[in-house]
Amino acid sequence: MTMDPTVREVVENAQPRHLPPHRSHDPSNNLKRSDPFMFGSRYLEEGDNVFEFNAWDHVEPDDEFKAYAETQFAKQRETPVSEFDMKRFNGDPAKWWDLFYKNNTANFFKDRKWLRQEFPVLADVTQTDAGRQVVLEVGAGAGNTAFPLLANNQNDQLMVHACDFSKYAVKVMRESEQYDPTHMVADVWDVAGEPSEENGDSLPPGLTEESVDVVILIFIFSALNPDQWNKAMRNIYRVLKPGGQILFRDYGRGDLAQVRFKKNRYMGENFYARGDGTRVYFFDQDQLVNMWSQWTPEKGLPDDDEPRTGDGVFDVLHMGADRRLIVNRQSKLKMYRCWMQGHFRKHGGDVAAVSTTEKSE
Ligand SMILES: C[S@@+](CC[C@H](N)C(=O)[O-])C[C@H]1O[C@@H](n2cnc3c(N)ncnc32)[C@H](O)[C@@H]1O
Repeated sequence: MTMDPTVREVVENAQPRHLPPHRSHDPSNNLKRSDPFMFGSRYLEEGDNVFEFNAWDHVEPDDEFKAYAETQFAKQRETPVSEFDMKRFNGDPAKWWDLFYKNNTANFFKDRKWLRQEFPVLADVTQTDAGRQVVLEVGAGAGNTAFPLLANNQNDQLMVHACDFSKYAVKVMRESEQYDPTHMVADVWDVAGEPSEENGDSLPPGLTEESVDVVILIFIFSALNPDQWNKAMRNIYRVLKPGGQILFRDYGRGDLAQVRFKKNRYMGENFYARGDGTRVYFFDQDQLVNMWSQWTPEKGLPDDDEPRTGDGVFDVLHMGADRRLIVNRQSKLKMYRCWMQGHFRKHGGDVAAVSTTEKSE
């Protein structure tokens, strides 16, 4: 990976905060040294050599790195994208994702073997006796979530709707050897669409109001313009059954990917255009809790300046930051990554059906 020399210097110097000894690993269950390891178990402690392993969990960047990030953000704001590019990138976002999938193979995003561990609900719906389960993956891309889910499926009544607004992404999924039409359907669908003559009822093809058990949102909300979140949440709310669940994972604020953005990429606070024209937003944990706990079909999203108190239509069952220090052992480079992970539930329905085996942070 190429890296700006200043970023390099800072990440090399940023020392991870040492965790208190009570989080020390147990030698009888020495996960950080096991293979395969469990995510979330590789604690960096006093006396550990940070370059002994490739990655450490729960490592907060230190103050020096945070200060560096703030100076980067200030520079980014001073040199935003041009008006011309802003219109191009926001005007037809599917076009840029089409180009992305034309230029990259289906292997661009790696298969997620960690999915069932992070989201136990996905293990539940694939059990032999789980009964009819409808899963909708939004912004499914090349199928890197849908395919591993199906590879482990024991439930002959499972149906996965993998939707993306890029027709090339849908083509990649449909042409995959792993595409099994008895359990999966890949369709073009814009999650931020509104009912119209062209969009019909704006729900995914083949799905009706309140027909979905689980909605998967993995790195899709970050691809939307913040002014599209409300429309996307409305469609998700409409398609979910009462009691239906939402599994969310996305970029976290201060992630190295955000700090590294240079000139002419800033489109708004925490919102950028990548070099290939695709857009990316970086979320804060409290912001996501507010969004998902307070959204209502009538009032939409809460106003940042005037937060409402919990009258929303979703419960936030879990919201956490997944922080990792990724280490390049050869070049002695440290990189701080941050992702947000959430589990939400639409009000109503059979609450007992919700998996309670949530991973704790
Ligand atoms: C960062 S990629 C993530 C792909 C996939 N979820 C994954 O994690 O591998 C974002 C995906 O969202 C899709 N996308 C962006 N905006 C969308 C929208 N409004 N409706 C549906 N899909 C959208 C893009 O085409 C792209 O495939």
